[in-house]
Amino acid sequence: MSDSRRGERMVLQVIGPSMERNTARIRRAVDGKVVVITGASYGQGEATARLLAAHGATVVMAARTVDRLSEIVDQINAAGGTAHAYALDLGDPDSVELFASAVDADFGRVDVLVHNAGKSLRRSVFRSALRMQDMDVMLGVNLLGPMRLTLALLPIMKAQGGAHIVNVATAGLQMPNAPRWGFYIASKAAFDRWIRGVAMEARPHGITVTSLYAGHIKSRMVATGWVSAMPGHTPAQAAGVVAYAITHRPRVLQPHGFGLLKLVSVAFEAPLEAMLGRFDRRAGETPASDAAFAAAMAKRGVGTLADSGRNGKVVR
Ligand SMILES: NC(=O)c1ccc[n+]([C@@H]2O[C@H](COP(=O)([O-])OP(=O)(O)OC[C@H]3O[C@@H](n4cnc5c(N)ncnc54)[C@H](OP(=O)(O)O)[C@@H]3O)[C@@H](O)[C@H]2O)c1
Repeated sequence: MSDSRRGERMVLQVIGPSMERNTARIRRAVDGKVVVITGASYGQGEATARLLAAHGATVVMAARTVDRLSEIVDQINAAGGTAHAYALDLGDPDSVELFASAVDADFGRVDVLVHNAGKSLRRSVFRSALRMQDMDVMLGVNLLGPMRLTLALLPIMKAQGGAHIVNVATAGLQMPNAPRWGFYIASKAAFDRWIRGVAMEARPHGITVTSLYAGHIKSRMVATGWVSAMPGHTPAQAAGVVAYAITHRPRVLQPHGFGLLKLVSVAFEAPLEAMLGRFDRRAGETPASDAAFAAAMAKRGVGTLADSGRNGKVVR
């Protein structure tokens, strides 16, 4: 192995959780199994579907962008795998119910459920005060939608005598609070706490849960500004991490260096929060977040940023 490959591998071992590299083990874990993956149209979800289908899983891929899902499904099936595309909007309770019913009707079982779909938002709370919808969207996709889906599929898992759930949380939950990320961190944290409690009730029925505290993944979610330059897993490597969660079924899977970071975060919480606050005030908004906010407001017909700031209109 070259020095640069070895260096990259060492960095990923500190900032990312373990990856499954043993293909025979992946096949043993998923061959002939029904694996439901939310958010399978892009990034880690798409790569996970491709990886598990290549090892014999029947992958049930769900997201809002059905055209893209269908293309991926066609490619997987053409390569000899088995994949199915379903429309799912986790922010819409009816859509979640329809999806769960379709899975039950079409497959009658769920061996692995990967709660992968997620939405991130870095936005000043003063901007979200002008756009209450931010709160609904973030809670829908990261908290209420996954809760509804879990509740709909748990009885099937219990009746079949067991299953495994992987929740893709974020390593950010183990760091100090950060300004502008409130909705993302709060919604991911709430679901994580909920599913970890569910895990304790579900274990006697053979249902195990892995909380995966993912490190940085170079997906479209983080494809802007300085964030995109941070070291992290490619989606294909991140899929290897999800595979590790499935083959080993640990209660918790987190980046190796994060035990220490968690300790430091607790011990120095106040100074770290003060430092992050100072950094945030100095950094301000990025051009990308300015553009995203302007676009979001324009879509709702509120006009320019400056206008919306002045008239204080609340958009829902
Ligand atoms: N990227 C990172 O650095 C990072 C770090 C830690 C944790 N994570 C977590 O990793 C997971 C995967 O993220 P990623 O990096 O692969 O991001 P991504 O490429 O943006 O993929 C997110 C997926 O979620 C789906 N999604 C978004 N809103 C949805 C909704 N309302 N209903 C159903 N599906 C929805 C998207 O599909 P549609 O738009 O087609 O619906 C997409 O397939 C997320 O849970 C994220 O929070 C990411």
